[in-house]
Amino acid sequence: KKDQWIMGIETSCDETAVAIIKNGREIAANVVASQIESHKRFGGVVPEIASRHHVEQMTIVIEEALKEADLTLPELDAIAVTEGPGLVGALLIGVNAAKALAFAHNIPLVPVHHIAGHIYANRLVKELTFPLLSLVVSGGHTELVYMKEQGHFEVIGETRDDAAGEAYDKVARTLKLPYPGGPHIDRLAQEGSDTLNLPRAWLEEGSYDFSFSGLKSAVINTVHNAEQRGEIIAPEDLAASFQQSVIEVLVKKTVKATEEYKVKQVLLAGGVAANKGLRKALEEAFSTKSDIDLVIPPLNLCTDNAAMIAAAGSIMFEKGIRADLSLNANPGLDI
Ligand code: KG4
Ligand code: ZN
Repeated sequence: KKDQWIMGIETSCDETAVAIIKNGREIAANVVASQIESHKRFGGVVPEIASRHHVEQMTIVIEEALKEADLTLPELDAIAVTEGPGLVGALLIGVNAAKALAFAHNIPLVPVHHIAGHIYANRLVKELTFPLLSLVVSGGHTELVYMKEQGHFEVIGETRDDAAGEAYDKVARTLKLPYPGGPHIDRLAQEGSDTLNLPRAWLEEGSYDFSFSGLKSAVINTVHNAEQRGEIIAPEDLAASFQQSVIEVLVKKTVKATEEYKVKQVLLAGGVAANKGLRKALEEAFSTKSDIDLVIPPLNLCTDNAAMIAAAGSIMFEKGIRADLSLNANPGLDI
């Protein structure tokens, strides 16, 4: 049987990324051009700047990926591209690049949901076994996704306000840490301890939804109140207390859902999956559950990349999912 080569293109936020995957699971090329340095001084991603960087980087990154995989465009079986959700101007650059290549070389075009991509990053680590549950924690999303088979997604719980990564970034801002704040809070948290007794948002009994805005406000209030009293709270303890509150809720709800849905596998996905505390807490929680296989991707496959888009694209391609040249960016796309 002939090998299958899929190119993935991802431009939903501030990384211009192109990857090539062999037979759905092997990384032949994985190029990520990050714009973090350009957005840092604004304390967050500036959509207009993101779009302009994508335009500048797109063809360079495509050529680099082809070179890394030692392939030419006509050898590709499909081009998978993130159609949404994300920043509309940023998404459009990737979608249009994918359409141009597909048209010029008569290659099938496969639309991919960004979160499906994050979940499928796990298939680059291990073959998926169903039914499974994925905890998706990124800058824009916090969801528990149940999958009964390949390419089938059911959201059983989601955040009602801020995403976990968003909460990390806002708390980091309060502590005057650089953007993106997640990794800085993570590092500080290792050095402090959970002394502040911050709230845990369990919500109603049996709910798999999340909420992080109350916790974020509690952190901001704690800092302001201390300042007014002329006290200083150790940033390490603040980071550790915040992180412990986030992790406790994420892990408990995930464990409970695996029991109710009787899944065989649990996947961790999204940028916050890079969090050391979360990885450790999940490993501990599932270490005693020998019937459930926990999969955690390496750090470079947790944050935005195109290998995950190609991995999801490979499954969608096999399912016969195609887009024509009328494909548009869809910033609010549901999974
Ligand atoms: O998945 P991602 O790269 O982009 C989105 O699709 O949103 O996630 C980015 C988010 C940011 O909020 C960033 O602060 C967070 O992931 N993040 C982390 C860590 N590394 C990245 N949050 C906590 N701990 C980390 N180590
Ligand atoms: Zn993402």
